[in-house]
Amino acid sequence: MDILISNWSGVQSLPETYIFPPERRPGDHKIPSSKDIPIIDLETINGPERAQTIQQIIKASQDFGLFQVINHGVSRELMDQTMALFKRFFASPAEFKARFYSNDLNASCRLYTSTLNYENEEVHYWRDNITHRCHPLEDHINHWPDDPPYYRKVVAEYSIEVRKFLLTILELICDGMGLESRYFEGEISKNQLVSVNHHIPCPDPSLTIGMQAHCDPNLISMLQQGDVCGLQALKDGQWVGVEPLPGAFVVIPGLQLRVISNGKLASAVHRVVTDSKESRTTIGTFLIPSNDVLIRPADGLLGSSDMLYRGYTYKEFFGTFTSNNCEAETALECFKL
Ligand code: OGA
Ligand code: NI
Repeated sequence: MDILISNWSGVQSLPETYIFPPERRPGDHKIPSSKDIPIIDLETINGPERAQTIQQIIKASQDFGLFQVINHGVSRELMDQTMALFKRFFASPAEFKARFYSNDLNASCRLYTSTLNYENEEVHYWRDNITHRCHPLEDHINHWPDDPPYYRKVVAEYSIEVRKFLLTILELICDGMGLESRYFEGEISKNQLVSVNHHIPCPDPSLTIGMQAHCDPNLISMLQQGDVCGLQALKDGQWVGVEPLPGAFVVIPGLQLRVISNGKLASAVHRVVTDSKESRTTIGTFLIPSNDVLIRPADGLLGSSDMLYRGYTYKEFFGTFTSNNCEAETALECFKL
């Protein structure tokens, strides 16, 4: 398993296969965190400020396509315990990790490096990833790592709590946009991945990248950042840093929310740059429509505006997205009316 960067130690210089051509390098990778990224306090949601908070979520989704959430109800202890387990996983012996190595998109648990296309890509990204399918839990949990013995229990509890959190955010979005509150329940949000990125310290962050600029193709995403900077979002054509706020979640509406809202909500373009001194671990959670679900701009939102996208199944969208090199705008073009 020499290809996993988490198995390397004492890397002094960047291997050539990680050096991007100049136009794909991150440029100024040390940009400061933006103070403008909205921070939503969910504590207010059951009080008199509910309507105002909902409007903040809608506005953040429109203006940034990304926001941070504090007081979200998931305990700090569970967040820390889960993060510690994932860090421990990436630090565990190569032989143990090798049991989970897989390039099968449908595996209940898969560990890989760079992208699922490692064998064929010209340059590799500076990241390892372990992805757990989480829903329904009983179909997948027995394929997850089992060391330490409480790994499965903790990650399962985390996956349940963050799923509840994301469904709450979706319900608030419905409320703010005038959609029926259960619009995003059921098949449209059924599949769930907990996907953990890990980047070891990089000898030269200016030459490589942890994750290329992309939009998330799913319904909605959230990230629990550790304490190391690296996540950047594109705002008005400029990269801005997304500060790792202790205890906060970063929420990113996915491309499906953009389509369902008929283009009213945005999905931020984001990327990950590497750090020369510290390892960075981030826990991502994605809610994803089932393959056969029909996605289209919601009737209730159209008003007098024209429908911008035709209906499609998520399977069709995802196929188009991957065959277009995961470029969101090119993929969306195929569904524009
Ligand atoms: C992702 C992603 C960001 C991060 O997995 O889609 O954007 O900070 N992750 O790891
Ligand atoms: Ni992403």
